[in-house]
Amino acid sequence: MELRKREEDMLMGRFGPGPQKSMELLFAVGKVFDAKDMIPVAASHLHLPEIMLFPKGDEAKWGMEVTRKLVDGVDSFSVPSTLNPMVLDLGKADALRIPKDFVDEMRPIFEQAMTFYERKGAIPNYSCTPFSDFFYRKGEHLGGAESVQVLFNNSINGARLNRETGPTALAVAVTGVTPNYGMHLDEGRRGQVLFELNGDLDSRQFTDADYNALGYYAGHIAAERIPVLNGLHPEMTETDLKYLCVPFAVSAGISMIHIVGVTPEAPTVKEAFGGKEPKEKIFIGKKELQWSYERLNTATTDEVEYIAIGCPHCSLEELRRVAQLLQGRKVHSACVLFIATSTIKYHLAKQMGIVQAIEKCGGVVVRGMCPGASIFGRYGKELAIGTVATNSSKNAHYIGAHSGGHVKTLFGSLSQCIEAAIEGKWRE
Ligand code: F3S
Repeated sequence: MELRKREEDMLMGRFGPGPQKSMELLFAVGKVFDAKDMIPVAASHLHLPEIMLFPKGDEAKWGMEVTRKLVDGVDSFSVPSTLNPMVLDLGKADALRIPKDFVDEMRPIFEQAMTFYERKGAIPNYSCTPFSDFFYRKGEHLGGAESVQVLFNNSINGARLNRETGPTALAVAVTGVTPNYGMHLDEGRRGQVLFELNGDLDSRQFTDADYNALGYYAGHIAAERIPVLNGLHPEMTETDLKYLCVPFAVSAGISMIHIVGVTPEAPTVKEAFGGKEPKEKIFIGKKELQWSYERLNTATTDEVEYIAIGCPHCSLEELRRVAQLLQGRKVHSACVLFIATSTIKYHLAKQMGIVQAIEKCGGVVVRGMCPGASIFGRYGKELAIGTVATNSSKNAHYIGAHSGGHVKTLFGSLSQCIEAAIEGKWRE
């Protein structure tokens, strides 16, 4: 692999031990994927599951050790670096009915990790939707480990990034470069399988859950191939696009999708396939969406304990919608309704009175917290949580998978989730 002088100097240790270890890691990854060189990035998004999401046990120890080596001697990151959510909003733990001893155990680990990254200049957004606050242009190269951020930036903005691991995204932030392979290259971004909407589906009538269900099914079929989705109404909101993208991170190992008429590289089906005709076309209709709904609804009861909204983190538009749906009503005393957003959106929503409006009705708005996959998936059994309702396929999938099936899920639209929070029961 060809290295520029600055990269060579880092590899030789002339920038200190952290940049050397970081460059060694990126160089090794580049060799595995036959990268011909490194490419400068505009930013990196740091995903720190070992420390921030799963702060207990060996993974936390291992994660912190690796992190320390990669940033050894580094005062600040080379490029703007945003941070992924944590397992808990410590300030709202009581309202979420999380036991005090659990919170006390986590608090010092969180505080240590937050200080650690923030002192190096990381932006404390603590969110999986940095694309909503920081815009990257078509063709701009990025680093990042969070699957939603990777999917959205590649597919909607036309920026270029691979789905990195926690350590490689950190190494990218330290060095300011990433190996030039996969999604960074034109040939790595071409569509490989076409999905066409059946006549029995009109995406203008879709709820947030329908977008999730469509992506969940298509991802399952596409597996490792880049899908091209044709027949969706192009006037989708950021929220629609987010829920369409997110399931591909779950049911497939994909970093990019093409939405014809939306993705900058997919004005037509042919262009999405790099000027070629698709070899395979798969139709999606109501039956296929139903397949997703059946898999994401695992609960055997209609009693709801927790209602988790904001996976991926809520936009202002969604927070406002929650406030409207709750207006003049009260969350059932047996339920905890919580809505997650970034620290940035939280402050805006508070200034606009949206947080207060939701909390007046008994909802809890949390900031910088992953609303389910980690707390319910990883600790659901320990916290004796039985059933969680959500409008996110990613949340439903991971809560079930990470908890070993212990925590059951109810999956439906945002308005269905809010109705469940008011009534304490799930209605089809
Ligand atoms: Fe974000 Fe957690 Fe969902 S990191 S996409 S809220 S699983």
